[in-house]
Amino acid sequence: MTRIELPTFTRPIVNEIAPYEPGKPISEVQREFGLADVIKLASNENPLGPSPKAIAAVKAALSDLHRYPDGSGFDLKAKLSTHLSFSPDCLVLGNGSTELVELVTEAFVGERDEVVIGRYEFFKYRIAVQIMNGITVWAEMPGLQYDVDELLSKITPRTKVLFIANPNNPTGTLLTAAESDRLMERVPENVLVVFDEAYYDYRDPADYPDTMRYLQSGRNVIIMRTFSKSYGLAGLRVGYAITTPAIAQAMNTVREAFNVNSLGQIAAIAALDDVDYLQKGIDLNIAGKAFYYRELSRLGFNYTPSGANFVLVRTPIPGRDLFKKLLQSGVIVRPVDGYGLTDYVRVSIGLPAENARFIDALSTAI
Ligand SMILES: Cc1ncc(COP(=O)(O)O)c(C=O)c1O
Repeated sequence: MTRIELPTFTRPIVNEIAPYEPGKPISEVQREFGLADVIKLASNENPLGPSPKAIAAVKAALSDLHRYPDGSGFDLKAKLSTHLSFSPDCLVLGNGSTELVELVTEAFVGERDEVVIGRYEFFKYRIAVQIMNGITVWAEMPGLQYDVDELLSKITPRTKVLFIANPNNPTGTLLTAAESDRLMERVPENVLVVFDEAYYDYRDPADYPDTMRYLQSGRNVIIMRTFSKSYGLAGLRVGYAITTPAIAQAMNTVREAFNVNSLGQIAAIAALDDVDYLQKGIDLNIAGKAFYYRELSRLGFNYTPSGANFVLVRTPIPGRDLFKKLLQSGVIVRPVDGYGLTDYVRVSIGLPAENARFIDALSTAI
């Protein structure tokens, strides 16, 4: 994005926000490089496409598009409530879980309030804090991992929120169940802990924290999940938060009344019923990840073991240069230098043929 000078009446903080670089769309790469056959492994989308049940539900709902969506999301919340065994008044729906991050900062982070964020954590947290004129307090992530003592050492009387993306994007690294319990034992009760579980369905349950337990024991916790990844509905923008009724009420108060569109709500309800689709995606991801690990090792690349549907790969040349070289082969991955990770690229796990094409392109690019 070319940066043009902002109007003089712009809030000063807006000038300081580094623009987010989303995954390059396929059509843009086709245009720029004159390529017909381009694959995108840059936004951690579900390579299977949407669930056929979600597609059918959306098609059936098209003739109602002149109506506003149900602003309370009654049916989706009822469905989720059964699915999660949690009361609907503990749920908040978002226009993707990205919007939920904003609802958290809008409701709870005021000017100069502090928010603890890991050095390589998902970009959205820092931007949401900046917009509110809050202060991001960085916790280092040695070896790209969360460090519980480091996180705890950053908490002060001014700390309002602590964000844990579990697993984190772009590193793919996890806070384990034991680490999470140790963190929660020591975090003061008045600090809101947000567990962003966008990649929840790809987890290895053996070592994954049961964050619902913290809620059940009355802690100030928000668990965020999304329909964008394992449920294959990124284009419809539906996420949800599970929290206490009081926190939910605060988030709902600052929420735009019709924030989740009607097709998104309908598709999400149908997708929750498609258990086979979900499992197929999980299995595909396990196999794709094993393929990447094997082939990356064969080619001599280091990678970070991932708890999600993408892998962070260490690059012998600057990651951005590799990203550009791969574009020429019609393979879109994600440079992550915006996180200070200059010698890495992040690659999503796609269909087997896409994964093989990435590995081929990688082997000729270096
Ligand atoms: C850790 C994490 N949280 C949240 C999101 C946002 O997903 P969405 O807004 O599509 O629900 C993403 C998307 O990449 C993510 O990686």
